[in-house]
Amino acid sequence: MSKILIIGACGQLGTELTLKLRTLKGDDNVLATDLRSEPVKFIGDGPYEQLDIMHPSRFNELIDNYGIKEVYHLAAVLSAKSEQDPRFAWKLNMESLLTVLEAGKDQLEKIYWPSSIAVFGPDTPKVNTPQNTVMNPNTIYGISKQAGERWCEYYFEKYGVDVRSLRYPGLIGHKAMAGGGTTDYAVDIFHKAIAEEKYECFLSRDAMLPMMHMDDAVKATIGLMETPAENVRIRSSYNLAATSFTPAVITSEIRKHYPDFEIEYAPDFRQKIADSWPDSVDDSAARQDWGWHHQYDLKELVEKMITGLKESIVFN
Ligand code: NAD
Ligand code: SER
Repeated sequence: MSKILIIGACGQLGTELTLKLRTLKGDDNVLATDLRSEPVKFIGDGPYEQLDIMHPSRFNELIDNYGIKEVYHLAAVLSAKSEQDPRFAWKLNMESLLTVLEAGKDQLEKIYWPSSIAVFGPDTPKVNTPQNTVMNPNTIYGISKQAGERWCEYYFEKYGVDVRSLRYPGLIGHKAMAGGGTTDYAVDIFHKAIAEEKYECFLSRDAMLPMMHMDDAVKATIGLMETPAENVRIRSSYNLAATSFTPAVITSEIRKHYPDFEIEYAPDFRQKIADSWPDSVDDSAARQDWGWHHQYDLKELVEKMITGLKESIVFN
């Protein structure tokens, strides 16, 4: 069993991915790391270490001490937060990836690094966006993800580093709050609905975006990582899709459970980011190469979020 290290394990995706990997691989085989000194709830009982990935020597020490062979590198500054400090976002998103890729040359067997629909820009075809198309991202987050994809493919071609990646849509789960992105409204809205409060949405009612339930994202991530290397044809990043909706559409679905739920639209700077991203994505390459299929469409996603939130104590 290869020992796994997760960077950014206490974030929105990391929380759920860590728990799932520990369930599948055994608690002791999955080392969770993040900036904070103590782990968050929900990630299970395996080992935890504080790690700032901007300190490569600490990262390398953990790899040696724990005999790590696989790394899931989830730490990043997301789209909305990146616009507030573009140079910091570029530095963190790029330097951390290069640190991990360098370790891939001779210490690691496999690396996972997430990309995003943010690699696409206003010149990209918006509907059923192809795997290979015009990109031209115009957010610093999207620029960093596109550059990251190029670095991943380069390290695979030049050094044989087995790095794998997915272009996630907006991710929606109930165990952790979203971390500074443009799709965060689709998580926040559920917290207001459950609390029977009005929601002020920072996107317009018609902002169509690709979205995915967290269970599907975790399933896709582990599915890609478990695929035999020769079947992973794309070494930049795979398009990945499940469903697409607007704030108005998800509101109608939530009203089937909370008929009095109210929403008000007050679009801010994040609307422009949303406008630059696809409405929907063609993920046929992922479906063909490693058998990806999603489980949650809008109806199931909304049901699962509402039941999940009702059952759990949510933390920030
Ligand atoms: P998040 O912001 O919720 O979590 C990121 C985690 O990284 C946090 O726990 C944070 O403390 C940690 N971190 C930040 N700086 C760090 C550092 N210097 N060293 C170590 N850890 C650090 O983000 P997320 O939503 O969980 O996203 C995880 C990855 O998935 C990111 O690469 C993101 O770009 C990508 N992604 C997420 C979404 C989404 O909708 N959540 C969509 C597309 C892609
Ligand atoms: N959900 C992410 C964001 O909005 C997309 O990568 O930043």
